[in-house]
Amino acid sequence: MLDPDDLHVRTRARCAVKGLFPCLHLRNIQNRHVFRQAAEKILKNKSVSAKKVVTAIPGDAAIIRYIKVPYMTEDELKNMIPYDAEQYIPLSMEQVVFDYEVLEEVEEDGQKKLEVLIVAVKNETMNQHLEILKDSGITPQAIDVDAFALCNAHGLNAGDEEEGGLRADTVALINMGAKITSVTITEKSIPHLTRDVNIGGNNFTKEIQREFGVSFSQAEELKKQHAVIMVESDELLLSAIPSEEDDTSAKIFEAITPALNKMLNDIRRSFDYYEGTVKRKPVQKILLSGGSSKIKNIDRFLSERLGIPVEINYPFKNINISSKNFDFDYLRANAVHFNVALGLALRAAGGGK
Ligand SMILES: Nc1ncnc2c1ncn2[C@@H]1O[C@H](COP(=O)(O)OP(=O)(O)OP(=O)(O)O)[C@@H](O)[C@H]1O
Ligand SMILES: [Mg+2]
Repeated sequence: MLDPDDLHVRTRARCAVKGLFPCLHLRNIQNRHVFRQAAEKILKNKSVSAKKVVTAIPGDAAIIRYIKVPYMTEDELKNMIPYDAEQYIPLSMEQVVFDYEVLEEVEEDGQKKLEVLIVAVKNETMNQHLEILKDSGITPQAIDVDAFALCNAHGLNAGDEEEGGLRADTVALINMGAKITSVTITEKSIPHLTRDVNIGGNNFTKEIQREFGVSFSQAEELKKQHAVIMVESDELLLSAIPSEEDDTSAKIFEAITPALNKMLNDIRRSFDYYEGTVKRKPVQKILLSGGSSKIKNIDRFLSERLGIPVEINYPFKNINISSKNFDFDYLRANAVHFNVALGLALRAAGGGK
């Protein structure tokens, strides 16, 4: 059994890319056997020989806090933070694996302070994660939290915004997965708020399944082929020229609308909290990733409803990809699934604490 004390829950580090390492994204894996088979297959079929593996746990399995402490030296902080952190974490230090990182120096009420990110994971959660990896013959180099991996991947591309994308200091990274939509608000690529919204692609699929009376996998297919979010101008267009295709899309849109609105409201609440309490600065841009960001018009929907520009978060802008090893068309079509994995690879490439 690996000892969780030997591992850091890695928070955040800026690092250069020196190469890519295998990254696995685990979430509430109930069936270890299935995971082991899948991991073995991927590592073998893709001839992955690298031994360093970085994995991520989801944000909702970690306790994440952004705190401010009086300015102090690194050593003073190291001694003080475990005691101070106990008041922010609803568990004792013996019950968690804990790490922290200084994000930046701030001036507050005329006083110099440090903003510190603290991350704690229950020993039980960490042990489960490690056992699954061990079962699969994988030795982890580091364990990350997916929202911070996303930030790291964004850090690699942030400089490019001056060229193609809209220049913005306060950027919300929204990753829409299957179960969870994570919201991380960053200022100059440093995270200051992390929230998990409990709505993702599975919620949309289940609503489609109910509406059409089909199996989950059939509903997934319907979603991938026909889901279109009707933004206001399009709604007028569609009602003018009805067709069979539009009819399916309209039915899907109607079925997923409640879940979509719940997601939107939870995102809006996170923004309101950030803008009203955390930094008092508006979010200037949203970068969207995750498989559910492939739903047609979801970028326009968020942009119209929140009044903020939305761009798709293409993760490979600054990566030289060899056409010998990778299928470009596949990567391009599925790029938004890879933001977290890329962030994990960058972590491994940068060495570690
Ligand atoms: N073309 C598509 N249109 C709509 N949804 C899609 C499309 N392709 C994939 N999805 C959805 O994306 C989701 C998977 O995305 P992703 O790979 O980012 O999730 P995950 O990381 O496995 O999930 P989570 O982060 O919640 O654990 C699924 O709900 C899937 O149905
Ligand atoms: Mg995900």
